[in-house]
Amino acid sequence: MAHNLLQGKRGIIFGALNDQSIAWKTAQAVYAQGGRFVLTNAPLAMRMGAINELAAATESVVIPADATSIEELTALVQQAEQHLGGKLDFVLHSIGMSTNIRKGKPYGDLNYDWFMKTLDVSALSFHKIMHVLEAQDAMAEWGSVVALSYIAAQRVFPDYTDMAQAKAVLESIGRSYGYRLGKQKKVRVNTISQSPTMTTAGTGIDGFDVMFNYADKMSPLGNAPAEACADYIVSLFSDHTRYVTMQNLMHDGGFSFTGISEEVIQMLHTQAQQA
Ligand SMILES: NC(=O)c1ccc[n+]([C@@H]2O[C@H](COP(=O)([O-])OP(=O)(O)OC[C@H]3O[C@@H](n4cnc5c(N)ncnc54)[C@H](O)[C@@H]3O)[C@@H](O)[C@H]2O)c1
Repeated sequence: MAHNLLQGKRGIIFGALNDQSIAWKTAQAVYAQGGRFVLTNAPLAMRMGAINELAAATESVVIPADATSIEELTALVQQAEQHLGGKLDFVLHSIGMSTNIRKGKPYGDLNYDWFMKTLDVSALSFHKIMHVLEAQDAMAEWGSVVALSYIAAQRVFPDYTDMAQAKAVLESIGRSYGYRLGKQKKVRVNTISQSPTMTTAGTGIDGFDVMFNYADKMSPLGNAPAEACADYIVSLFSDHTRYVTMQNLMHDGGFSFTGISEEVIQMLHTQAQQA
């Protein structure tokens, strides 16, 4: 499916941890469309080493940066521009982490230091990245910035706890910074609200299997896989979507607009008959 949609475009991809990561699939899809980029992740995640395989396969380099550190982001953006030989056309924020979720804390008993960390890593990092891009005038005109979100920003999924607030803030930052970068540089900023996806971040949530299966049964097209999300991101980085900005775009197989599905009705009927 090579159409060279991103030929000549340069960017930064945050968040490829392993070959399940949405950012990993995106790097592969962007590379296949002719885009060139720097890969980055938190220094801690680098220890896993897998990202180097991706870098080799996509002719990219890896520059570690903690996305909560302005200093590290500044160095990253400077080095990325230098390495790629010009301003950036696209940036992917594919970052999420909640210690409250990892430790199974219920919503009524959150550790507030961890809550602040969740917001910093999963939401404010999006603002910090765009702040650094703006301060260094690093984006090319008509560039595109994308972050990944989840429908728990709008609707309650009890085990998603403090990540629900992080996603609501993330989407709001996308709108506010989208206005600003649009005015300044005609750069667009969008968030993609993705279906549950079998990744390290996803499967860390209590009851993820059930959430995944329920969403799959509720969505007329089924859950959107990571590969399809990567294709959607490619379209948002391409010149075909230049006037789409400040949006939270549902990439969920129709889940968000489905009240109930025949599959779920059938499942509940079967359960009732067995009871
Ligand atoms: N998996 C799902 O079900 C799902 C659904 C909707 C949205 N999302 C979102 O997609 C994005 C990517 O997650 P994924 O599912 O590919 O999982 P993943 O675990 O592969 O990716 C999360 C990434 O965040 C990185 N990260 C954590 N702390 C960081 C920091 N301080 N600085 C820089 N990077 C840091 C991790 O190293 C990792 O690479 C996240 O925003 C997630 O919330 C995931």
